[in-house]
Amino acid sequence: MMNNGFEKMNIQWFPGHMTKAQRMIEENIKMVDAVCELLDARIPYSSRNPDIDRLSGDKPRLIILNRVDLADPAVTSRWKSFFEAQGFMVMETDAKTGKGVKNFVPAVRRLLSDKLKEFEAKGQAGRPLRIMILGIPNVGKSTFINKVAGRKAAVAGDKPGVTRGKQWINIGTGLELLDTPGILWPKFESQEVGEMLAITNAIKADVLDKETLGANFMLRMCRMYPEAVEARYKFKPDLSLNGFELLEQAAKKRGFLVSKGEYDIERMANTLLGEYHDGKLGRISLEVPDV
Ligand code: G4P
Repeated sequence: MMNNGFEKMNIQWFPGHMTKAQRMIEENIKMVDAVCELLDARIPYSSRNPDIDRLSGDKPRLIILNRVDLADPAVTSRWKSFFEAQGFMVMETDAKTGKGVKNFVPAVRRLLSDKLKEFEAKGQAGRPLRIMILGIPNVGKSTFINKVAGRKAAVAGDKPGVTRGKQWINIGTGLELLDTPGILWPKFESQEVGEMLAITNAIKADVLDKETLGANFMLRMCRMYPEAVEARYKFKPDLSLNGFELLEQAAKKRGFLVSKGEYDIERMANTLLGEYHDGKLGRISLEVPDV
């Protein structure tokens, strides 16, 4: 059942959308001095595009761990160290409220300090640095650009390959941001990655089996954050149960009764996914770095 869902997701993105999005990125990347890659701090592995290294070429890169307000802070700092150990500059942001965004300009100037010296040596001291924001759909690119630009600059929504007049947004102290973010295609390398993307709304969960998605997610939550499950759904997770049975336990506690003795698992799956999305389960990270 799950596999059918994932096949449907693949059809959404391959190959037309991907080709157009890739072309747009390849065209624009030539014009920028650095690329900033937005990741969802809760799933830095799954929200990373596998082709980013090839697409970025030798451009300096900044990794922005976004949605830190929803992620487990201890895990986020482990991811920060993990990427830093690979030589990346890393920032943490909550683009929705703007927390951490003020570090962006200084971070880019630090990232491109050699370039700035080069401009100066060439007598081009005022020349702006140009930056492009990249990330998979719904990771917060438009929200981030709007916050950095301090106004409603970017058009929210995902329209891969839509050609518009290129616009550079001046964000102060000699930095310019391409107004259209690069939309990277999500990776579909395993069912687990697909689930992570669906749980965090990077891909639409309604194209796959919500009940199975919810069951797998419940099991994951019970293993990783049993105390959060207990606090929210008022039962102590028994890890010998499967995901559906755990959902049923939560459904019982919520009183989601369909008929005598039968509980509405699908409704509970939707409730769980919705409450996770709204941050009601607390700050939950779904992936930890491999070290
Ligand atoms: P995109 O351009 O990368 O596609 O993403 P966009 O900015 O449109 O953001 C997608 C959703 O994520 C928006 O919510 C936005 O408010 C939210 N968002 C972005 N950054 C953050 C963050 O750091 N923390 C939190 N909590 N939310 C963030 P939306 O349109 O209301 O959609 P949704 O929240 O229902 O998914």
